[in-house]
Amino acid sequence: MLGSLILLGFFFYLIFHLFRIQRPKNFPPGPQPLPIFGSLLDINIKNPLKDFKMLAERYGNVYGLYLGRNPAVVLNGFKVIKEALVTKSADFSGRPQNILVSHMTEGKGVIMADYGPAWKEHRRFALMTLRNFGLGKQSMENRILGEIEHLVAKLEKHAGSILNPQTFFHNAASNIIYLVLSGIRYEYDNETLKQYIARVTENTKLINGPWSMIYDTFPLLRSLPLPFKKVFTNCEANKKLTNAMIEKHKKTRVRGEPTDFIDCYLDELELRDNESSFDEDQLVIYILNLHAAGTDTTSNTLLTAFLYLMVYPDIQEKCQQEIDDVLQGKAQVSFEDRHDMPYTQAVIHESQRIANTVPLSVFHCTTRDTELMGYNIPKGTIIIPNLSSVLSEEGQWKFPNEFNPSNFLNEQGQFEKPEAFIPFSAGPRMCLGEGLARMELFLILVTLLRRFQFIWPEDAGEPDFTPVFGITLSPRPYRMGVRLRQSAREI
Ligand code: HEM
Repeated sequence: MLGSLILLGFFFYLIFHLFRIQRPKNFPPGPQPLPIFGSLLDINIKNPLKDFKMLAERYGNVYGLYLGRNPAVVLNGFKVIKEALVTKSADFSGRPQNILVSHMTEGKGVIMADYGPAWKEHRRFALMTLRNFGLGKQSMENRILGEIEHLVAKLEKHAGSILNPQTFFHNAASNIIYLVLSGIRYEYDNETLKQYIARVTENTKLINGPWSMIYDTFPLLRSLPLPFKKVFTNCEANKKLTNAMIEKHKKTRVRGEPTDFIDCYLDELELRDNESSFDEDQLVIYILNLHAAGTDTTSNTLLTAFLYLMVYPDIQEKCQQEIDDVLQGKAQVSFEDRHDMPYTQAVIHESQRIANTVPLSVFHCTTRDTELMGYNIPKGTIIIPNLSSVLSEEGQWKFPNEFNPSNFLNEQGQFEKPEAFIPFSAGPRMCLGEGLARMELFLILVTLLRRFQFIWPEDAGEPDFTPVFGITLSPRPYRMGVRLRQSAREI
């Protein structure tokens, strides 16, 4: 008996020493990592936001964790995040390459592409194409307004009743990005779109869940037939669909006269030589990337905005008054009108601040051994920018913990954006769809508020503002009463 106990003790001692994790010298402080698991038992992996806040209170705004055996550093607060992502951007702009999401996208496209020439070329191309408008005659604004007409028509059908807005906003955001990418618009109940979205949703769940953590932590298990394998099958199916879209474009496009993003990329491909990082495999992942990045983010922000607008009808009414005044006699809103709508602008930005849609940004990675706030951070360390910590940081906001448009208004009632407004992150890796997202949010919110009144249903009980955690935060599903506005009837 004693012999077995000694043997068992020796076995654990051996395991402990074999798998012991040693923090590098002068690595940011943090909880002592356990062998194999690292710090995974110190945080609630289903929603680590609270634990991240507590750890910052204990260890300071820069602390070190271990995701399994992988070292990670969490950055909190505006000053630290700016120092790393902006001032030392070349050191902090990589992406981790040995995790499930990077394997799923094969390091291609843009979101998970590592810091280097291929990422840079692709990022520049997308920014140019989305901004300057390589997309032909139809402007970005018109594409968005076109989709909004469909959304309005759907809501008009439900006027006077109560609906679940989730799918409406999700499909509208998905269609807008598809219109930009491929010129295709899907009906909201289209089977192909439904299946595509179901696969994306399943992958998002898997990536957010424990199986992804297991994949990232235990490379030896990766070839086993475990649930994380589904991520790859789903991705393959969506790649097939995207490939078909590209093939169709190849048959119908007119060289030099692009009408959407795919056309632009195919034109660019012909101009480049073999050395270039542009190729069709990249394009496929790029399209999947842009669609994924542009759908949940925008629709979850809209869902948050409408949740608060229903719960604070006085704020909703004040927006509607401003919108009615500015748009008098105009058939449609334009993005330019935002300059005359300081209050509505403040409400939209406050909704984004409270929505905290991408709370931990997309993980970064150090590209070389570096130093931050006096600590050493080795090359290859995962960097987690806690954007959440900035969007509600004491000292940065007049009302950090409540929904209050005054956070974006000065004494004279003019719109003013504090530096700490970084829902799109900061530095060279910051969201490349910011322009598109801001245009969508403004045009959708203004058009809908002009036509409809949104009401929290009487039988819905107290609203629950606690968001559901994921790569993107979303409000808990809710129902919404929709009424046609008097002034809208007169337009
Ligand atoms: C309200 C809406 C949105 C929010 C809050 C948001 C937020 C973010 C954040 C926080 C990041 C990570 C930045 C970093 O790594 O530091 C990001 C990256 C990205 N976003 Fe967005 N995003 C939104 C909409 C969009 C849209 C509409 C598109 C589509 C064009 C888009 C495309 C991307 C891409 C491609 C990246 C990766 C950039 C890179 O790695 O270089 N996003 N976004």
